[in-house]
Amino acid sequence: MSAATATHELVDRAMRDAAARYGADSRSVQGYVRGKLAWDPVYRQLAARAPFPEPVFDLGCGNGLLLVLLATVQPGLRAIGVDWDDARVRQATSATRTLDSIRIERGDVRDLEIPLSGTIFLVDVLHYLEPGDQDRVLQRAAAALSAEGRLYVRDVDRTTGLRSLINRSQEVIGRALGLHKGTGLHFRATGELVGVLSQLGLETSIVPSWGKLPLSNRLIEAWKKGHAAAD
Ligand SMILES: C[S@@+](CC[C@H](N)C(=O)[O-])C[C@H]1O[C@@H](n2cnc3c(N)ncnc32)[C@H](O)[C@@H]1O
Repeated sequence: MSAATATHELVDRAMRDAAARYGADSRSVQGYVRGKLAWDPVYRQLAARAPFPEPVFDLGCGNGLLLVLLATVQPGLRAIGVDWDDARVRQATSATRTLDSIRIERGDVRDLEIPLSGTIFLVDVLHYLEPGDQDRVLQRAAAALSAEGRLYVRDVDRTTGLRSLINRSQEVIGRALGLHKGTGLHFRATGELVGVLSQLGLETSIVPSWGKLPLSNRLIEAWKKGHAAAD
């Protein structure tokens, strides 16, 4: 996919333009978005991999930041974003209001039917689910992938010592501050998630996704066995 992959200039422009889409939101939302764009490498990592096979399904889309970015690097992106948090659904709906081919819905990823998808994102979502629910969501995501489809999972790797401890502590604080609802925090080793994906018939590649921060996030790309990896 390298020849057609989004250029640095396009990704830079998407990163600059994205924050403006939250201009109607509260200062805290705008600050959150600016902080995520500045410090969290996952948005740039994913935007640089566009174009993605469509339709795109963003499970636990939060305020829609990833879809907003991708809509710039992949104009006309056909995508659905789902989240169970009303405030985030409102923010994502507002941020994508002029993007006709993106739909935001309220839903729980644990019992959502996932339609046939070219690309499925689970960015920083799995650890809010019990391990059994994580496996079931991955199972449904794998089953919903088209032949050339891609599944991207970004999550904390609980095996990497101090980084993992810092990352998990940050999440515990976020939860204590009421930033996320849910039943708890359930971190797993990236190797364990890769094992689940392999059993589901997917091949994987993994890259670090912590940027300049002392965290342990990793980005897993998964695709059906026998289909070529993206560059
Ligand atoms: C850390 S945020 C990540 C948001 C987004 N994926 C991103 O990376 O910008 C986690 C999101 O997952 C959502 N979430 C957690 N559990 C969920 C569930 N069971 N169903 C739907 N959304 C869920 C939360 O509401 C929150 O918006």
